[in-house]
Amino acid sequence: MDQLISKIEQYKNEIQSSTINSKASLEEFRIKYLGTKGLLKSIMGEMKSVPVDQKKEAGQLLNEFKVFVESFYESATHLVEGEQLNEESQLDVSLPGHSIPIGSRHPISIVHNKIVSIFQRLGFSIAEGPEIEDDWHNFTALNLPENHPARDMQDTFYISQNPDWLLRTHTSSVQIREMEKGNLPLRIICPGRVFRNETISARAHCFFNQIEGLYIAENVSFADLKQTLYFFVKEMFGVDVKVRFRPSYFPFTEPSAEMDISCLICGGEGCSVCKRTGWVEILGCGMVHPKVLENCGIDSKKYTGFAFGMGIERITMLTYQVKDLRLFSENDQRFLKQFTQA
Ligand code: PHE
Repeated sequence: MDQLISKIEQYKNEIQSSTINSKASLEEFRIKYLGTKGLLKSIMGEMKSVPVDQKKEAGQLLNEFKVFVESFYESATHLVEGEQLNEESQLDVSLPGHSIPIGSRHPISIVHNKIVSIFQRLGFSIAEGPEIEDDWHNFTALNLPENHPARDMQDTFYISQNPDWLLRTHTSSVQIREMEKGNLPLRIICPGRVFRNETISARAHCFFNQIEGLYIAENVSFADLKQTLYFFVKEMFGVDVKVRFRPSYFPFTEPSAEMDISCLICGGEGCSVCKRTGWVEILGCGMVHPKVLENCGIDSKKYTGFAFGMGIERITMLTYQVKDLRLFSENDQRFLKQFTQA
């Protein structure tokens, strides 16, 4: 019996000082103590040689020892598994990261920024104004008095509470506001959203973006206008693009013209985009009508000026060969993701 007690003590000490830190050492422990040929089994076998009167006590000791070994094994198992989990969840900096999708600029913004920067290089500064306008700034000051037939050219949204208010149909209204301030010479571009009561289709929308330009000083001529617009076209579309002016009519400019560029798609050969003509219209322009200058309190004998206006959507469609205007305002990610240019 004493022998049995000291053996159990010895094993206990051994077990307590054993280090189990891996799956292999855990398995080693299991085989050594709990296996079919393990020490627990063999020490249990010693019950046979214990005298009958001591069997009860010995049985108790052995049972306690069994529970001790088994619970030691169990907690060692938890420890090893836990450590393995830790190892697995440790940060592995060599793994590829989760990429965060990067946004891109809206194509209208890309083209807007490019146009603005070209005119800024020529000394134009940006002027902005309200989208809700009054009749004077959108029409009357621009030589479109009430009942002028050209008012019908721009299907206007009126604001029902006040017949004098409307959504601006062009940013020429901003030019009037700037001229009224009287700081001459004046060299501005007016970007902004404009509104027209049109049925929405692939080629027309009830709102779109414009950039209009205005230069007022002494001795400004049509040659200055042409030179400015030539420079713009070459910077915007490249040196190979051809330019032509066609006489046109706007109430606020005289003379007036529309400017075409050779078709960017077919290079002037003729295709569906240019309707087989080889040319596409990109803007309207002209010399500011003396009446408009006078309406803003500017001496038209002393000052002359030119103005021009273009739709950003139209230029974006030509640049990226977009065939449907509606794509610009639908915010479809599949469309927008394609424009990665800064
Ligand atoms: N305001 C005109 C439009 O919206 C464009 C334009 C501006 C034409 C300046 C001539 C001069 O259509």
